[in-house]
Amino acid sequence: ETVDWDADAAEKGGYEHYMRKEIHEQPSALRQTLSSRLDVDRGEVDLDLDFPQGYLESLEEIQFVACGTSYYASQYTAQLLEEFADVRATVTIASEYEFEGGRDPWRTLVVAVTQSGETADTLGAIRRAAGAGARTLAVTNTLGSTVTRETNDTLFIRAGPEIGVAATKTFASQVATLALLTVAIGRGRGALSTADARDVLEDLRALPGAVQQVLDEEEQVLAAAREYQDSDAFFFVGRRFGYPVALEGALKLKEISYDHAEGFAAGELKHGPLALVSDQTPVLAVLTTGADGDETRNNLTEAQTRRAPAIGVVTAGIRTKSLDWALEVPAVGVFEPLVANVYFQMFAYHIANLKERSIDKPRNLAKSVTVE
Ligand code: G6P
Repeated sequence: ETVDWDADAAEKGGYEHYMRKEIHEQPSALRQTLSSRLDVDRGEVDLDLDFPQGYLESLEEIQFVACGTSYYASQYTAQLLEEFADVRATVTIASEYEFEGGRDPWRTLVVAVTQSGETADTLGAIRRAAGAGARTLAVTNTLGSTVTRETNDTLFIRAGPEIGVAATKTFASQVATLALLTVAIGRGRGALSTADARDVLEDLRALPGAVQQVLDEEEQVLAAAREYQDSDAFFFVGRRFGYPVALEGALKLKEISYDHAEGFAAGELKHGPLALVSDQTPVLAVLTTGADGDETRNNLTEAQTRRAPAIGVVTAGIRTKSLDWALEVPAVGVFEPLVANVYFQMFAYHIANLKERSIDKPRNLAKSVTVE
């Protein structure tokens, strides 16, 4: 008697693809990211970073450099920093970055966000910043990676190994880690009250459970993917924290399904992209808290008037009319768009799977790009 033992399937924990496994690992990845780093009662976080005395108070600007999915995680964070830490934050695609600081470059903190820690464009940017005298911080998933050796400090996102080329759980863990950093900076600068810090940390603590609730809705996402798999193109829209999530949703779908997908700031739909909209172009919108849901809803209606199918991610319990699909996320404040992203990941996965694409290794792409 022989037993069929498929080592590859075992590696994937019974999932057909690493990507789906990694999507489903997000609650545990997030728990690891947050583990022993937050003290909700005191409204404090412990990241084991020792900025010099007085550094955070004197900080003038935070500049993020990153590529791909890490770039969108940085865009999410820049908004968190402006809202909760009262500090100017800019985000630049690493290959486009040139350092510009004030009179004292050390008062500019340049943060390299890179899952692998090996992306050549990001390393190039951080070297230019360090060379000009800026303080540097690496935010990465990879212990001992190059970026950790070239920066003043390192913050690990602790998502665990990610094998699928398309980044999934590392996006969630990047944003969660950077949200902790936001609280640390906000507290350090005296810009965030204990009560407000507590609120943010409570929402963060609820994040793994909220993501699990969305994962439990996978059947719904599969049904929507079946309905729209033959569409001409897919548009993703959002505002505020929903905007980087729209961009990330479109990136995921194009990477693994090879379908045309684009993300827009919802308000920009009427300034051009609307010309492309028809009954063959589903529009996926982030309509939750933190994404200016009502305004975005109006923009979505403009697309529906042109007969576009509408898939909206909404806060649970909020009444929604005339959406083709309403996908619910539990209430977790400014992190609702991050949870909405999990629907977009599953949507991309199922569209690609229905088309039998090479999901874990899409054509022409690499997990880590070490050339500029
Ligand atoms: C490659 C990957 C993307 C990733 C980007 C940045 O292009 O295919 O999924 O987002 O690199 O990678 P990093 O390791 O720097 O986050």
